[in-house]
Amino acid sequence: MSLKLQETAPNFHAQTTEGEIDFYEWAGDDWVVLFSHPADFTPVCTTELGRVAALQDEFGKRGVKTIGLSVDPIDDHHAWISDIEETQDVTVDYPIIADADKSIAEAYGMMHPEADETHTVRSVFVIDPDKNVRLTITYPAPTGRNFDEILRVIDALQLTDEHQVATPVDWERGDDVIIVPSLTDPDEIREKFGDDVDELRPYLRMTSDPSS
Ligand code: BEZ
Repeated sequence: MSLKLQETAPNFHAQTTEGEIDFYEWAGDDWVVLFSHPADFTPVCTTELGRVAALQDEFGKRGVKTIGLSVDPIDDHHAWISDIEETQDVTVDYPIIADADKSIAEAYGMMHPEADETHTVRSVFVIDPDKNVRLTITYPAPTGRNFDEILRVIDALQLTDEHQVATPVDWERGDDVIIVPSLTDPDEIREKFGDDVDELRPYLRMTSDPSS
């Protein structure tokens, strides 16, 4: 069973390319992007791991740690990292889990036997500092993920956690946002957003991005 939104992400101990970890201790108070791969030495995953390496500054700015996972052995991971670094022109400086007994894959619902009996599917989990699952996406094996989209969702989650707003279609940092429908008290709305409220409909009220 796959994890659902707002469920607690299970803790685990794992062998990774950066040593043994206790997941909760490693995550600390940061957000986490945990993403699984069908197998080492596969072309799509090679480009994805390279892209995540290239985006480390962007993840870091948002207080996010990244960690990959496949069920292949740690020696393969190390050999594959050399290929990733050479072909994608990056340094892979985040851990990749070797989940040989598939215990983490099972706990997170990364095994989809109808799609692949022995390997993890291409899953992504965004986990917040309270260890709640905030986003899950599963991609088909031949389709590479879009990590810009994952950063965009993290921006939206962090914004909505801090302010009583939601984000409209295709929202990017700096775009107008939606005042949540549950906020109905006019005094509270004025206190939070001043005159910066565009009421298109009583249920559709826009305001500027409160973080910019
Ligand atoms: C892969 O790189 O993981 C992959 C490539 C083509 C088809 C399926 C998977």
